[in-house]
Amino acid sequence: MSISAIVQDVYEEMRPHFGEGKVADYIPALARVPLDKFGIAVVTTDGETAFAGDALEPFSIQSVSKVFTLTLALGRVGSGLWKRVGREPSGDPFNSIVQLEHEHGIPRNPFINAGAIVTADVLLAGHQPRETLGEILQFMRYISQDDTVYMDEDVARSEQATGFRNAALANYMRGYGNITNPVEKTLGVYFHQCSIAMSCLQLAWAGQFLANGGKLPGNGPRIVSAERARRINALMLTCGHYDASGDFAFRVGLPGKSGVGGGIMAVAPGKASIAVWSPGLNEIGNSAAGTRALELFAKKTGWSVFG
Ligand code: DON
Repeated sequence: MSISAIVQDVYEEMRPHFGEGKVADYIPALARVPLDKFGIAVVTTDGETAFAGDALEPFSIQSVSKVFTLTLALGRVGSGLWKRVGREPSGDPFNSIVQLEHEHGIPRNPFINAGAIVTADVLLAGHQPRETLGEILQFMRYISQDDTVYMDEDVARSEQATGFRNAALANYMRGYGNITNPVEKTLGVYFHQCSIAMSCLQLAWAGQFLANGGKLPGNGPRIVSAERARRINALMLTCGHYDASGDFAFRVGLPGKSGVGGGIMAVAPGKASIAVWSPGLNEIGNSAAGTRALELFAKKTGWSVFG
């Protein structure tokens, strides 16, 4: 069966589940997104694409952006990053503060909010926020090979106005010296990276370098080394879905990163990158129908990192 036939099948079988879950309402701009949207897109490592549903409609990628800022931060400071952020699953919600005290302001991993705020701080060092945001956006446009990718100022402002927990995390870490820039500047970078709007198809393209040993499709330009791509995938598998990372590995069997906008980017190493979008979230904050769609897709393709 071709990839596009599988994508079409998944879309049809998912119909009864459109609208499942609840939209993230703690960020007012996200609470307005229609619940019944659903999109899926796949890009294979030889550059074949397949998509269905609302796959061309931009949505707020939110925490999926953490994969890309991690990639940039590793490019900037290499393994020095691991002095400031851990590599263990947290088993706690994405916005939790509890471990930070025991672990002296060092977040468990780069995908929980605290870890991503440190990563944003690394990218900001020596720059103005505008320059760092320009770097992030340019990178997203390059890897998705699409210059229309943008940051949604309404979403960023909405989050800035309500991001009290993130402000608490950042201030707390600043107290331990693990945030080095003025807290409001670091948070400004973090909120704007989360506000990036992309479609499933753009996001699937952006995940290609992780599926293709560090390169853009085929023998495209190298973005990171094969080893780095492998390691980022390992972190997505173990930490990409917060306290549901184990469940996602069990059900889908592929590295993946979710966002509260309802997007998930998943990687089948050597085969394809996949993006799904459905704004309704489960109680952990991951897309309900999106997770189900990836589970179905993995089952139909037989793709899994576990053999
Ligand atoms: O910081 C926040 O709360 C949001 N900008 C991003 C959180 C997120 O996407 C968590 N994902 N499931």
